[in-house]
Amino acid sequence: MTETTRVCFVCLGNICRSPTAEAIMAHRLGFEDLGVHVEVESAGTGDWHVGHPPDERARDEAARRGVPMAGTARQFTADDFGRFDLVLAMDTANMEALRAIAPNPAAAAKVHLLREFDPAADGDLDVPDPYFGGSRGFTDVFDMVDRSITGLIAHIGSAPAGE
Ligand code: 4NP
Repeated sequence: MTETTRVCFVCLGNICRSPTAEAIMAHRLGFEDLGVHVEVESAGTGDWHVGHPPDERARDEAARRGVPMAGTARQFTADDFGRFDLVLAMDTANMEALRAIAPNPAAAAKVHLLREFDPAADGDLDVPDPYFGGSRGFTDVFDMVDRSITGLIAHIGSAPAGE
């Protein structure tokens, strides 16, 4: 039976960074054979944008790179820990917010920073929040997330969930 690894990317609003990560990962999985089945979703720690589509600037950046992006923002809940093997936070504040609602230590241990998988990270493992900045921030976010997902895909391919 093919193993399934379930991944949720989490940022604050679920309209900029985590939908970008979800879109890139889903797109890459469409043409990279890991030998495992991977399911990806995204969510936010906050509820301000629940029900909203991804931010237009994030969609524009993804479109420029040939990556389709869709989705509707939702808030991550404690129950979600049971649905995922890896919960990947975009920054330290998101990681702390997730660990604070984890129902048990095993759930908290599923939470990591996405940029732990970024081969170019030099100590700072946060994907900076681009919401209040200009389009350049969205370009930088895309590059960081794209690199991290290369590392994440290699990690999942070498150590599928449950092994
Ligand atoms: P995201 O960006 O967490 O990457 O989706 C943000 C979106 C909205 C807000 C902050 C960050 N906000 O404050 O409304």
